[in-house]
Amino acid sequence: MDTVRKAVFPVAGLGTRFLPATKAMPKEMLTIVDRPLIQYVVEEAKAAGIEEFIFVTGRGKSSLEDHFDMAYELEDTLSKRDKVQQLEDLHAWLPDAGHVIYTRQQAPLGLGHAVWCARHIVGNEPFAVLLPDELVLSDTPCLKQMMGVYAQVGGNVLATMDVPKDQTNRYGILAIAKDDGRKVEVTGLVEKPDPSDAPSNLSITGRYILQPEVFGHLSKKERGAGNEIQLTDAMAKMIGSHPFHGYRFDGERHDCGHALGFLKANMAFALQRDELAADLKEFLKDL
Ligand code: UTP
Repeated sequence: MDTVRKAVFPVAGLGTRFLPATKAMPKEMLTIVDRPLIQYVVEEAKAAGIEEFIFVTGRGKSSLEDHFDMAYELEDTLSKRDKVQQLEDLHAWLPDAGHVIYTRQQAPLGLGHAVWCARHIVGNEPFAVLLPDELVLSDTPCLKQMMGVYAQVGGNVLATMDVPKDQTNRYGILAIAKDDGRKVEVTGLVEKPDPSDAPSNLSITGRYILQPEVFGHLSKKERGAGNEIQLTDAMAKMIGSHPFHGYRFDGERHDCGHALGFLKANMAFALQRDELAADLKEFLKDL
């Protein structure tokens, strides 16, 4: 079974649900406590053994590239001021030189199209996709948990979670055969079905391990829900030709792509931090 060495981070979306914050700033640079969303997912991928980090960016996203570069003046100043710890903290999460690769999605035609834009960089090997606006608070990073499942079953593995039946029209939904409580065998995938048509209430979340055959299906550029080129539709075409599983991960998923989810994520992540938790709880109680 081929190892998963590469991860794709689609970051070319317009972030319209979070306007005006995202008018001049990438959604993926919004900050949870003290680091941008994109840093959390890159750290998650690194912890899962990913070696190559592929960003699919677009216009107005250059601050993302700067975040994963050396900040020469800043680092020189910190060094002259003997801020050793701060300097170390800046370097700890940076992938090594040459391991971050950028390509552009020239128009935001949908998640499937963004992933397709990375096809030549991924090549003919399995790869991970992480959506930066979804964070998972967990002891073991979500992608690492999925790598464990992939090592057993191979093929395609999607992170999944149960959602209320009346919310299926917000998510990609799985049709399933076997379900051992954790791992489910996927027999179908539908993007944003009406609750009355939904085959289950198990949703796709923003972590995927995919076989490269998905690129062939994406190259047909078929439009799906919302007139976008949907990753879900291309993945559905791989069912039957490869093992296909969903995995109910351990952890709490936070959708940071809209204001309420973003605020909740800030609270949840801050409450995990020893230096912030007590004062924040006090403040929330007063509020
Ligand atoms: P979202 O649908 O959450 O992001 O896509 P969006 O389209 O930017 O947000 P809204 O709906 O307008 O508020 C999940 C991830 O996929 C990327 C986004 O940047 C985000 O990180 N994406 C989405 C692309 O890279 N290209 C696209 O065409 C669409």
